[in-house]
Amino acid sequence: DAGKGGYDHYMLKEIYEQPTALRQTIRGRSNQLDGRAELEELPPGAFSDVESIHLVAMGTSYHAAMYAQTLLADRGITAQAFLSGEYGSNPPPTDDGTLVIAVSQSGETADTLSAIRSVQGTGARTLALTNVVGSTLTRECEDTVYIRAGPEIGVAATKSFSAQVATLILLSERLSQDIHGGTPAATGDLLESLAVLPDDVQRILDESTAKSVAQAYHDSESYFFIGRDIGHPVALEGALKFKEITYDHAEGFSAAELKHGPLALVTEQTPVFAIFTGRNDTKTLHNVKEVRARDAPVVAVAADGYHEVDDYADHVLRIPDTHHDVSGILANVQLQLVSYLAADELSRPIDKPRNLAKSVTVE
Ligand code: AGP
Repeated sequence: DAGKGGYDHYMLKEIYEQPTALRQTIRGRSNQLDGRAELEELPPGAFSDVESIHLVAMGTSYHAAMYAQTLLADRGITAQAFLSGEYGSNPPPTDDGTLVIAVSQSGETADTLSAIRSVQGTGARTLALTNVVGSTLTRECEDTVYIRAGPEIGVAATKSFSAQVATLILLSERLSQDIHGGTPAATGDLLESLAVLPDDVQRILDESTAKSVAQAYHDSESYFFIGRDIGHPVALEGALKFKEITYDHAEGFSAAELKHGPLALVTEQTPVFAIFTGRNDTKTLHNVKEVRARDAPVVAVAADGYHEVDDYADHVLRIPDTHHDVSGILANVQLQLVSYLAADELSRPIDKPRNLAKSVTVE
C-alpha cells in the first residue's frame, strides 16, 4: 500500500503521474528555439537512408504504434504497424532500407522479441522504444529510445501509452528531419503543444467529469468506442482498457467502419464513446447522429473549442485545444479515467485483472 502513495490503486496513481512522466519524456528532447526534435540517443542523421518503417507491438503498445503509423504517413514516410505476434510468424519482406521499431513498455514481451528476431540477418535496422532500462529488447535491438515514464506496476497500461505516443511524436519528427532534411514550418506549433502537454493533462485530471459518465453507464453490458485517424487507435485503446478492468464487453473501431457491420449492435443499451481529434470531425459527427438515431447514449471526447457535437451527446468530456498530433494523448486520459472509475464502481480488482499479467513472456 505504501507504494500506492495514498491512491487506492496503482492504476490511479499512474494516471495521476502522467504530467510528471510526460515532463521526463520530453525533457531536453524538444528544441523549441530551432524547432527541432532532439533524441540524443540516436546519432545525427542516423536514419537518412530509411525507406520504410515497420512498427511491431502488442496491446496498448500496438495502439501507440498505430498512432505513430499515422504520424509518419502525415510526414510522407511509408510506415505500417503490425501486431508483433503476427509479424514474427509471417514476416513481411524487409531489407537494409527498412527500420523496424519495436514498441514495448516492458521490453520483455515474447511476441515483440520474436518479431525483432525474425528480421535479424535481413539487413533491416532495429530500434527499441521502451520504458525499462536494460530490458531484453534493448539488448537485441541496435538502437534504443527510452520513453522515461517511470515504473508502471498496474497491469492496465496508462502512463506508458502517453509517454510512448509523446516519444513517437518526437521520433517521427526526428525521422522526418533525417529522411527529408530540414524541419517543416509546422513543427514549431507541435513542439509548443508538446511543451504544454503535461499542464494540459493536469487540467484534465483536475477538471474531468468522467465520474458522472462512469456512474451513469457502468451497468451497461456493452460499450463502443469510435474515432478516425489518430482517434482510431485511441478508440481501440479506450475499449481495451475498459474490457481489461471492468470485464464488460467493449469494442473499438474506426468510425468509418460503423456502417459496415457494428451499427447492427447499437441500441439504447450500448453507450458509444466518440473521439474527436480535430481532423475529419464532421464525418465522425455524422456517425454520432447515426447512433443517436438508434437511441444509443453518446459520450463525446472533444476539444474545448469544438461545440458542434454538443447537441448530439449526452456527455462531453473536454480536452484542451491543442495540436492535432497531441490531441489523442489527451482524449485517452479522459477514457482512462472513465474505465478506472467504472471498474471502481463495480469493485473490480483493478491492479490485477483476472487472467492477465503485466508482461506476457510466452508467445
Ligand atoms: C495493456 O493495458 C495491457 N496490459 C497489454 O495489452 C500490454 O500493453 C501488452 O501486453 C504489451 O506489453 P508491453 O508494452 O510491455 O510489450
